[in-house]
This record gives sequence, structure tokens and C-alpha cells, in this order.
Amino acid sequence: MMKDLLAQRVNPDVPSALSGLFPKDDDPRAISFAAGSPNEDLFPVQAMHTAFDTAMINHGAHLFQYQTSQGNADLRDQLARRIGKWGQVQTTRDHVVLTVGGQQALELVAKTLLNPGDEVVVEAPSYVGALAAFDLYAPTYYGVPLQNDGIDLNALEDTLKQHPNIKLLYTVPDYHNPTGITMSVAKRQQLVALANKYDFVILEDSPYRDLGYEHLPLPAVKAFDTEGRVIFVSSMSKILMPGLRTGWMVADGGLLTAILRARQASDLEANNIVHAAIDAYLTANDLDAHVDILKADYQRKCAAMIQSLEDYFPDEATFTRPDGGFFDWVTLPEELDADALLSDTIIPQAHVSYVPSTNFYPDRNVRNGFRLSFTGLAPETIDEGMHRLGDQIKAALHAAKPVV
Ligand SMILES: Cc1ncc(COP(=O)(O)O)c(C=O)c1O
Repeated sequence: MMKDLLAQRVNPDVPSALSGLFPKDDDPRAISFAAGSPNEDLFPVQAMHTAFDTAMINHGAHLFQYQTSQGNADLRDQLARRIGKWGQVQTTRDHVVLTVGGQQALELVAKTLLNPGDEVVVEAPSYVGALAAFDLYAPTYYGVPLQNDGIDLNALEDTLKQHPNIKLLYTVPDYHNPTGITMSVAKRQQLVALANKYDFVILEDSPYRDLGYEHLPLPAVKAFDTEGRVIFVSSMSKILMPGLRTGWMVADGGLLTAILRARQASDLEANNIVHAAIDAYLTANDLDAHVDILKADYQRKCAAMIQSLEDYFPDEATFTRPDGGFFDWVTLPEELDADALLSDTIIPQAHVSYVPSTNFYPDRNVRNGFRLSFTGLAPETIDEGMHRLGDQIKAALHAAKPVV
């Protein structure tokens, strides 16, 4: 009865891309490679506590007043300078919008651009949270495969020729979620050239860009934008703390005006108290030094994961070798179904979990892969969990191809 009252976009018969992502396993031996959570032992809690105090002392009651829908101007200033330095994007605070996590930025862009049926290109696979945000606006998706250096531009151009009305392309160019792949600089430039030629908007989502283990961040796709058609999104979640719920975007011209209109209707403005505290944190602390600590920790964990994939997985399974970020992507032989394996044997018998590939494809049709996240686990735990997982994969492969 209630169902009839709901808008189609939240139809309970269609599972949300974000629901059931992280399987529950209460067993004490459980090891989860599913959630992409940062290592909370490294959260700068004390420094942030001080920053909140500083913000309150400096701003007094005004801190708690309504501000602007773009958000705290001082923080926007700092972020504009940061993306100038580390992303080669020449912009100012007037083009920056603070959001409730990067996730809100993605949803606002979808709300601003997409009518039902509008055509959208996503990388295949793609970030599940973006698919969940886009799904609400019922677009028509085209998935374009990834190569080791980012989206396959030939396949993209074929798709653009076949579907000249494509409006939006969504990409995670740096240490991609879920594959860990990074787009080459040449491709970033060529992608913008294609956007200019075929007249579409690029949504560049880059929360992991600072987390190249041994690299400085590459120029953003937005750095090559000549027509104001790239919307850049990033976040404090992966380099500071997700609980701050602070993301940000850089947009220009009519796109910026339209996004702000959608933002005002949605929540008027973001959380100024948190943003003043982040501004105080960035003023008093060296964020890059903090990021260096994260990079060293994640590099060690990533190395443990790659080593365990080499040690415990069958040769038939292939995997990416990320040099930054949170994730690794495993591709199994096509006869294996990562969803069924997870629920039928891997969780019940090995108490290990991952996120199956179906979740990262708009039509949920690729079943033989999965995403592994390593940032929240100690190297010994990674080794233990991957040993158990590898044994299960080997057994499944053996069962699928019995020796005669
Ligand atoms: C690619 C990507 N975009 C956006 C987000 C959203 O993060 P937040 O809303 O915490 O900034 C995530 C989080 O995992 C992500 O991986």
C-alpha cells in the first residue's frame, strides 16, 4: 500500500546501488576487505579538537549564524590554492562550493544535469556511490572499459559517435574506486578535447588524488578545461576524516550557478562550524605532512595485499597493482560468480568479505570480479584474510573445472 506513495526513483523493488554492499559477518574471525574506510588510528583527532576550539574563539557567535550557500570563504580560498598547487587548476574561491562530502557534490551534479533517460557515460566498473546518486535521476548509461592508463578513449569515441546526445561523463581519474587505476596525463588532455568536440560535461571525482604512494598528484582533468565544462570534485574524507562530511567542487559559469540553485533547495548551505574548524586546522597544521603519513601506511598495506595475491591466488585470477589510493581489483575466470561465491562459501567458510563486481556496473552484469580494500587492516591481517580467500578461490576454480 505504502509503496504506491513513493516516487519511482526510490522504488523499493529496485535495490539501491549502495544497499547491502558490506556483508555482515559476526564471526570473531571475520576479516572484511569490503569497506573503503581510512585508517582511523591516523585521524588527527587532537589537532582537529584544537582547530574546533580555535574556530569558536576566533569567530564567536557568528560561527553559528547562517552564512553563504557556497560555504566558508576562508576554506574555499585554501582549497582553491591547494588545487592550484597540486592539480594545476587555476581557480579562485568564487568557483569553489563546499558540500556534505564528495557524495553530495555528485548528487547535486546529477540533479542539475539529468532528466530521465539522459545519456551518461561511466567507467566500467565505476564508483558505486556515483551510480546510486545518478540512478535517482534515471539516466541511460553507457559503460566504457578501463585500460591500465584510464578510460579507453577509442571505445569512448565510438560510443560518442553512436550516441551524440551524451550529456555527462563521470570519471575517477586518480587511484580509481574500485580498480586503483590512474588516468595518464595525455588521456586527461584528450578527454577534455573529446568533451569539447562532442559537447558533454565531465564530472571529475578525485578524492584519492593526494594519495599516490610515491608520486605527487597529477594535473587534474580540470587543468585542461578550456570551456568550463569540467566539474572537479574532491573530499576531505580520505585525507583527513570522513566524519567531517566535507567535500568540495570547482565549477564555472552557468553550471556553477545551476548547481548552487540545486544546493540551496537541498540544504541551503553546508556546515560552517566544521568548515571553519577545517580552515583553522589547515592554517595551523601541515596537511601534506599528514598525507605523507597516510601514504606510507597505505603503501605498506597495499604491498601486503599484492604480495598475498601473488602468494595465495591461482594464476587464473588477475589483479591490478595500484600505486596509490585504497583499492585493488581482482578479475576471476568468467565461469566464477563473485556474488554467489561470497554468500555461498567465502563468508560462511572463510569469514572473509569483499565487494563483488556487479555493484560497480550500472547494469550489474559483470559477475567475475571484486574490489578489495586494504587501508583499514594491519598487514598481518591482510595476509591471513587473503590466504583464506585465495584458498576459497582455488577451490571454486577447481570445482568449476574438474580434472578428468
Ligand atoms: C570515488 C569516490 N567518490 C566519492 C566518495 C564519497 O566520499 P565522501 O562523501 O565521504 O567525500 C567516495 C567514497 O568512498 C569515493 O570513493
